[in-house]
Amino acid sequence: MDQDIIETIRQDHEQILKMLDDLEVHDRASSETYSVARGLLYSHMYGEEMTIYERTRSEMYERVEDSLAEHNSIRIGLDRLDQIEITGTEWVPAIQDLKRLVRFHIDSEERLLRAAESFLDKSERFELAERFQRAKGEQSGYTLA
Ligand SMILES: [Fe+2]
Ligand SMILES: [Fe+2]
Repeated sequence: MDQDIIETIRQDHEQILKMLDDLEVHDRASSETYSVARGLLYSHMYGEEMTIYERTRSEMYERVEDSLAEHNSIRIGLDRLDQIEITGTEWVPAIQDLKRLVRFHIDSEERLLRAAESFLDKSERFELAERFQRAKGEQSGYTLA
């Protein structure tokens, strides 16, 4: 397990983008992949909100507020996808919409992380990484109804 909150979040981002790429291609999209991607997105966002956002809010209030609004847009995008058949014609445009939201968010979040790197020391990053993994675990029971 990685012990640095910033590295841990970056690794999740790579994994999330890769899964969204798969979900965009009909032959590779499956309800199982969607379920895993959805679970990872939910738990990742919750984990961030409970750790890095909470910790950096006082230093970067506006950035954190913007990021929270982006998380909510992503949640709305996921709610919409929940209503759509993977094999139907609406699937690809809807997953592309979600991907655009996620990419935009990850780009702005990477800037937030770079700023946070300047004031979080190693031990705090370690402690936040542990809390992040725990928070993600708490959310992993949240599955598609
Ligand atoms: Fe993130
Ligand atoms: Fe995020």
